[in-house]
Amino acid sequence: AQVMERRDRCFSASLKGWRYLCRLVFCILSGLLLCLHNGWREANTYNYWKSTANVTILVWKWPFGRSYSLKGNGNVCLDLYKIPNCTLVDQRSLFPSAHVVVFHNRELIQGSQQLPIELPRPQGQRWAWMSLESPAHNGNLKKFANIFNMTISYRRDADVTIPYGELLPLETESNLVEDSHINKTSLVCWVVSNYRNHHRRSQVYKELSATDPVKVYGRWNKMPLSSEDLLTTISRCYFYLAFENSLAKDYVTEKLWHNAYKGGAVPVVLGPPISDYKAVAPEHSFIHVDEFSSVRELGKYLQRLAEDRKRYEEYFNWKKHWKVKVRGDWRESLCKICLQYNSLPQHKVYSDLEAWDKKGYRP
Ligand SMILES: *[C@@H]1O[C@H](CO)[C@@H](O)[C@H](O)[C@H]1NC(C)=O
Ligand SMILES: *[C@@H]1O[C@H](CO)[C@@H](O)[C@H](O)[C@H]1NC(C)=O
Ligand SMILES: *[C@@H]1O[C@H](CO)[C@@H](O)[C@H](O)[C@H]1NC(C)=O
Ligand SMILES: *[C@@H]1O[C@H](CO)[C@@H](O)[C@H](O)[C@H]1NC(C)=O
Repeated sequence: AQVMERRDRCFSASLKGWRYLCRLVFCILSGLLLCLHNGWREANTYNYWKSTANVTILVWKWPFGRSYSLKGNGNVCLDLYKIPNCTLVDQRSLFPSAHVVVFHNRELIQGSQQLPIELPRPQGQRWAWMSLESPAHNGNLKKFANIFNMTISYRRDADVTIPYGELLPLETESNLVEDSHINKTSLVCWVVSNYRNHHRRSQVYKELSATDPVKVYGRWNKMPLSSEDLLTTISRCYFYLAFENSLAKDYVTEKLWHNAYKGGAVPVVLGPPISDYKAVAPEHSFIHVDEFSSVRELGKYLQRLAEDRKRYEEYFNWKKHWKVKVRGDWRESLCKICLQYNSLPQHKVYSDLEAWDKKGYRP
């Protein structure tokens, strides 16, 4: 009987041990499951805002009061610009699911749109400040400290850069460089509407016209040009004054990309430093005012160049390899945010947007 009892005790002890073990295993397993589930959920929300396969861009108010159709065959970014997995919307009701909400500066500073600061901002959503104006026309941005997560501007150091124009490589090298001397009847042309005496460009124009004939078009001279006439007029000039109205870092506008390059005149540029132009424009395609010790020297150079067919034509050699693409409408610019989306910094706040905007600006 003693032996039996000992066996019994032994049996029940091992049974108890098993039960403990079972409970332990159950605990560990359910813990693991819970962990996995939570981790999965977190990873999912994380992925939605981070590296998502379908980015939604919400434009809060269309720039300058002009809206664009977003209908297309269902997806404008894919249909018009071949940008996949990118949805551009303008319905504010989609705010909670937007990855990026874009605010155009002009309407913000004029007060025709307000920031929806009362709405809870979903974690991971980015607010973008957008402007293609020079700092001279952006107003004071001090009130926008600590609000925006990204900038959209022509500047190369913005989170999303929207240049006024860019170069695309030609698929096949073009031998056909048209005779750039054909139909040239004026030495220097300038199109100006907003003429201000204090602008540096006005000083350079006055000095240059003392030595070189400068034909002036535009509202200032009461010789406005229609957009159809603009390029044919410029094509008759050897040189076109692509003078910017503000001198600001990277501020190179359609005066260079559209007027000069598309018009087929050699651009004489005044704006940001030469290095900013060199970073974006074709080599040996423009003449920068700062390359000369004086405007007089510039004037002499232009006269000699127009008389030297071979050297003049060298300024068009780039056309063998490159073509110019001028900025499209706002839809294209906004869809292009998606191309940058996955390389945006995880977390970023513009604590001093005003300082960022005025960097490299010489009023
Ligand atoms: C677009 O998203 C789909 C899934 O929704 C994915 O299979 C595809 O690779 C994505 N395309 C690009 C170019 O990222
Ligand atoms: C992407 O998101 C938009 C807006 O939320 C939706 O309408 C569209 O069907 C989605 N596309 C894909 C491929 O998931
Ligand atoms: C030169 O002008 C004529 C007449 O206006 C025009 O037909 C021709 O296309 C022009 N040539 C070039 C290279 O611009
Ligand atoms: C965006 O900025 C807001 C406001 O400063 C900040 O709370 C949020 O964490 C930022 N989000 C990202 C994704 O950087």
